[in-house]
Amino acid sequence: MQEIRRVAYAPGLIAEGVYDQLRGQEKEYMRLMSYYASAMLEMETKFKVLSIEFNGRFARNPIESIKTRMKTPGSIFEKMNRIGVPITVENIERELSDVAGVRVICSFVDDIYRLADMLALQDDIYIIRTKDYIRHPKESGYRSLHLIVETPIFLSSEKRFMRVEVQLRTIAMDFWASLEHKLRYKKDIPPEKTQQIARQLQETAEAVSRTDQQMLEIRRQIERL
Ligand code: GTP
Ligand code: MG
Repeated sequence: MQEIRRVAYAPGLIAEGVYDQLRGQEKEYMRLMSYYASAMLEMETKFKVLSIEFNGRFARNPIESIKTRMKTPGSIFEKMNRIGVPITVENIERELSDVAGVRVICSFVDDIYRLADMLALQDDIYIIRTKDYIRHPKESGYRSLHLIVETPIFLSSEKRFMRVEVQLRTIAMDFWASLEHKLRYKKDIPPEKTQQIARQLQETAEAVSRTDQQMLEIRRQIERL
């Protein structure tokens, strides 16, 4: 029960006034968010199940931790305004793929692809988009494997498919992304320093990636003993 309450949409936390943009669709919005929270929980469970099976097969744990998050109303409205679409519950569901997010922190790079492959084989879900920022890192240096999946949730009288954004990354990639995110929001960086800092962050990302490769090599070496 505790777990369910933790992920469920929490209306009490909403800043006053933020709902004004919904124009009378508050109930529908809350319902939609509860569907996303359920889909997120389904995906989290799928990864936990995969981890148990993987553990049995390879005698080690491929997942370090799983984090889930719901996009906040402020962030939803900001994105809808940014893409220029009127804020209605229907539009939110149609336009956004990252209302529900699951971040899977893996031990090794190959675990990421193995988990993604295992997930793709499940016949109740659809992987509707893959963005491989590991093979093709972002300009910033950001690395992760992103999947947009559609997972069914079972309601009292219907089965409904909901989209969830899944981000798979190693501990090292997560370390880089978390700190880079924090640094990016420091406001007082003078413009003439921006490029230099961006380059330093890219270099750090490269170093982190090399470390990931070395760790993988060491593991494989040990496995061959
Ligand atoms: P959003 O509008 O941000 O959702 O972008 P998008 O729809 O183009 O998706 P994309 O796959 O580029 O990235 C979505 C998510 O990946 C972001 O919300 C972040 O969690 C993460 N991400 C992408 N780029 C970066 C980056 O340069 N640094 C960090 N720290 N995270 C990133
Ligand atoms: Mg996003």
